[in-house]
Amino acid sequence: MSTRVFVLMFLALMAKTSGEAPKIKLNDGNEMPALALGTFLGMENGVIVSKENELVNVIVEAIDIGYRHIDTAFIYNTEAEVSKALSTAFDKGATKREDVFVTTKLWNTHHQCDEVEEALRSQLNTLGLTYVDLYLMHWPMGFHSNNTYSDVDYMETWKGLENAKMLGLTKSIGVSNFNKEQLARLLAEGYVKPAALQIEIHLLNVESELVSFAQSHGITVMAYSPFGSLVKRFGQMFPGPKCDDPALLPIANKYDKTVPQIALRWLVQRNIVPVFKTLNHSRLKSNMDIFDFNLTDEEMKILGSFDSDTKYTLPSFWQDHPHYPFKKIPKPLPSPFIN
Ligand SMILES: NC(=O)c1ccc[n+]([C@@H]2O[C@H](COP(=O)([O-])OP(=O)(O)OC[C@H]3O[C@@H](n4cnc5c(N)ncnc54)[C@H](OP(=O)(O)O)[C@@H]3O)[C@@H](O)[C@H]2O)c1
Ligand SMILES: *[C@@H]1O[C@H](CO)[C@@H](O)[C@H](O)[C@H]1NC(C)=O
Ligand SMILES: *[C@@H]1O[C@H](CO)[C@@H](O)[C@H](O)[C@H]1NC(C)=O
Ligand SMILES: *[C@@H]1O[C@H](CO)[C@@H](O)[C@H](O)[C@H]1NC(C)=O
Repeated sequence: MSTRVFVLMFLALMAKTSGEAPKIKLNDGNEMPALALGTFLGMENGVIVSKENELVNVIVEAIDIGYRHIDTAFIYNTEAEVSKALSTAFDKGATKREDVFVTTKLWNTHHQCDEVEEALRSQLNTLGLTYVDLYLMHWPMGFHSNNTYSDVDYMETWKGLENAKMLGLTKSIGVSNFNKEQLARLLAEGYVKPAALQIEIHLLNVESELVSFAQSHGITVMAYSPFGSLVKRFGQMFPGPKCDDPALLPIANKYDKTVPQIALRWLVQRNIVPVFKTLNHSRLKSNMDIFDFNLTDEEMKILGSFDSDTKYTLPSFWQDHPHYPFKKIPKPLPSPFIN
């Protein structure tokens, strides 16, 4: 075997085992790893927290595998576990602060402009960090501290996020769950352009229009709940294609991948950053193993053909809020939040 072939094989092996996702350049010059591990564990009489450090261990292992992007939020009640995991990883030299991208989110009860800095400082304290990489406004809707609706304008909240960026408490700022009109207004009236938009995207909720709009303005789109109907979410199956779908399985088999892997790959090839959750070690490994193949245009079309505007995160109990981002439905769900 020639030296050249040997070196190439060695490099290919290194690329496969090092397991880090490529990075995406944001519109403010910062770089975001193209795949994120989410930390929302669901709701059941309040937000679920993991037992016996389960999430801490998963995040530490994720960093060993090559994950460099962790997504959390004030409301998930997992920032303390993210903190424990990061300090464990830093202590054992698995990575350094500057090599990990931490995203967290402002909760709706801190939307007054002057509440944002205080909220982020308190979250940084829980996270054990001096800055986060991305701070997102979780929803365009503001609440009072007693959870009644506040009509505070999200442009006021955005000024608070701009201030937090200026103070160096976050490297980048962005929004989540904004619709196209709200995003357009942010672009027209804001001083700092949002670096990222995090919304629900999967096979049943393709979001072509909002994604093209955001991307055409240089905003990096992040997809939450990327597996959609393929998997059990919070113990429940939802209608829609499954992991043995006759249109999807042959595509997965062709590349020696699983259907969840090609669903992530479909997002990556749309330049979207998937944000998924798993507490399962083997899935943690396989969900990262999506950067060594390309779906063809035809296969991309097949994956995009299941769209039915189906959202799992549809907080219709808030639909009378003046800044509710989604279409209203006739029978809103009862609120899981105490009012
Ligand atoms: N901005 C927002 O408003 C918002 C809203 C919702 C979520 N998020 C973020 O997005 C993250 C993910 O959202 P999500 O949990 O709703 O959706 P998801 O990641 O699409 O689905 C999670 C489910 O998929 C299972 N799973 C993961 N990998 C799998 C695989 N390879 N094969 C089969 N099943 C697999 C997990 O079970 P196991 O744990 O058993 O593997 C879990 O039940 C959250 O953690 C959060 O960070 C943001
Ligand atoms: C909730 O808080 C707001 C702002 O402090 C106040 O105006 C409102 O009366 C409160 N509502 C209830 C039901 O306590
Ligand atoms: C973990 O994931 C693998 C692969 O999807 C699956 O076979 C196994 O049953 C899962 N384990 C648990 C405890 O859910
Ligand atoms: C996938 O496509 C990209 C860009 O077109 C290319 O650089 C890369 O080598 C391809 N990867 C494989 C495994 O074919």
